[in-house]
Amino acid sequence: MASLKDRIDGLRKTFEESAREIGDAKSLEELRTAFLGRKKGHVTLLFEDLRSVPPEDRREAGRLLNEFKSFVQARLRDLGEKAIPGAKYAAGRVTGTSSVTAGATVIHSDEDLTLPGRKRYVGAIHPLTIFEEKIERIFLAMGYTIEDGPEIETDYYNFGALNFPPHHPARDQWDTLFIKGDLLLRTHTSPVQVRVMERSRPPIRIICPGRVFRHETPDPTHLPMFLQVEGLVVDEGVTFAHLKGTLVHFLRALFGETVKVRFRPSFFPFTEPSAEVDIECLVCSGGDPGCRVCGGTGWKEILGSGMVHPRVLANVDIDPERYSGWAFGLGIDRTAMLAFGIPEMRYFYENDLRFLRQFGDL
Ligand code: PHE
Repeated sequence: MASLKDRIDGLRKTFEESAREIGDAKSLEELRTAFLGRKKGHVTLLFEDLRSVPPEDRREAGRLLNEFKSFVQARLRDLGEKAIPGAKYAAGRVTGTSSVTAGATVIHSDEDLTLPGRKRYVGAIHPLTIFEEKIERIFLAMGYTIEDGPEIETDYYNFGALNFPPHHPARDQWDTLFIKGDLLLRTHTSPVQVRVMERSRPPIRIICPGRVFRHETPDPTHLPMFLQVEGLVVDEGVTFAHLKGTLVHFLRALFGETVKVRFRPSFFPFTEPSAEVDIECLVCSGGDPGCRVCGGTGWKEILGSGMVHPRVLANVDIDPERYSGWAFGLGIDRTAMLAFGIPEMRYFYENDLRFLRQFGDL
């Protein structure tokens, strides 16, 4: 043991003496080979001797040796940086060589030092967040406020208060994921309407973006979890004209003044009358009979809307004789697909960096 320690100390001295002589990459490489060379390097040979050290001392001897090896490697790296700046050290090895020409050191490196640096990606805002914030800005500009509600809801807020009688077949349209007893994963953002109306009085003007859940088989435009944004306006004298005017303004602000929009009569238990809104398929513009987004119809349904049912107002103690309201619920993912021209909703959730990086670096 003592002898090993002495040998290491001796070699350390030899190393430092040679290190003083280093002037270029060649002498540095010689020093590296002398100590770390795979066949005859001093360190390599010491490791071979380890086999003849008695087992009880081997642990300590190994520690000393490893420490010395790290010391040599670190010193070589330092020396390399000082002797030939810019040359690259890989595992203690000089990959650039230099020669002295008329007093100047010329570096022949494997690396092209004139290349621009590699770009580091700090991150990017998720496309759904970009899109949700765009929607929020449009409504904030019209004086709406943003509200929030729980993702785990009770039957009452998701259905009962929204005028779905118990066991009514209309519930089947919302393929619900039940949790236990009265609890379920909200199937839409409409329960937030009820919560807001319970705690505030008209005039009400809110939107509520959030996650919703349905028992669905995934396909290009359906997922068991997706995003919706709910809108609600309640005041005196609110009519269907307000609903239509606001939604057309909103969709033009989102997609441009010339976007084609159509309203279709529909049914929701919590609105009367109700309408669904389609926009032209911006992926194929109606030109592809096999379009995966619109199925060749040229239109894509993006939101449901209607005049708040008087019974829903009564459920939250707002007098339906005096007040009226309108509401809408828009599928954020689906609409973002049209806006960005994405044929697959799943892309949003797979977190493939090649996809995510296309939407704006920070
Ligand atoms: N909650 C409805 C849905 O998820 C959409 C909607 C909201 C319809 C508000 C009318 C009013 O399909």
